[in-house]
Amino acid sequence: MARKYFIAGNWKMNKTAAEATALIDAIKAKIGTQTKVDVAVCPTFTALDAASKALKGSTIKLGAQNVYVKPSGAYTGEISADMLKEFCCEYVILGHSERREYFKECNCFVNEKVKVVLANGMKPILCVGEKLEEREAGKTIDVVSQQVLKGLEGVSKDDAKNVVVAYEPVWAIGTGKTATPEMAQEVHAQIRKNLAELFGAETAEDMQILYGGSMKPENAKDLLAQKDIDGGLIGGAALKADSFVALVEIAQNA
Ligand code: 13P
Repeated sequence: MARKYFIAGNWKMNKTAAEATALIDAIKAKIGTQTKVDVAVCPTFTALDAASKALKGSTIKLGAQNVYVKPSGAYTGEISADMLKEFCCEYVILGHSERREYFKECNCFVNEKVKVVLANGMKPILCVGEKLEEREAGKTIDVVSQQVLKGLEGVSKDDAKNVVVAYEPVWAIGTGKTATPEMAQEVHAQIRKNLAELFGAETAEDMQILYGGSMKPENAKDLLAQKDIDGGLIGGAALKADSFVALVEIAQNA
């Protein structure tokens, strides 16, 4: 099975419900029915309802940016998998570096979340990536491998088909600095090796590995040309219809 490119927008803590509707309407007008590339938008929790309505009738999928591991109960401020399913979320971003850094999420907690998302029939987008000091200390491959192996521990081969991995070097997120295509490819190839260790080479070949970190229309073509880069998890450039649509179009022609 040839891998499809996947362009996903991580809106982070941006866009009200009304703004989400406007952005989705603008994106839909251009690429709302294409099927060549997998496309998803991941708004904040409070915009999921509006986004889900706005996406109706399009091929663009909905994702959330986090989930809690318990199904319900006294967990003030948290959101369950069922609550996400109510809005037809297909994807959930997990282990983003901003959550690891500001909310102290560790590999083990992220792993629990991955399993909850899969058990609920949704697809985790597991984010991994090294910090600048880790890269400079030559630890990139070690750090990323650990994040992949621990993040996906206990996931079955069958469920692995629904897992997406996103490599996001922390030093490239929101900084305008991008990994060179060669740097990114080296890590993506390692991630695919890790996936092969876990799930076998055949399953690993079918899994999508996205690049994230200042990806934009100007640098997307060269990144997507790499053998193991199957798309992008886009932050800043996903907040404007023009740049997000341009990225999808680049993936269509890659
Ligand atoms: P930027 O594209 O803004 O660098 O963000 C990337 C990211 O963190 C996506 O999850």
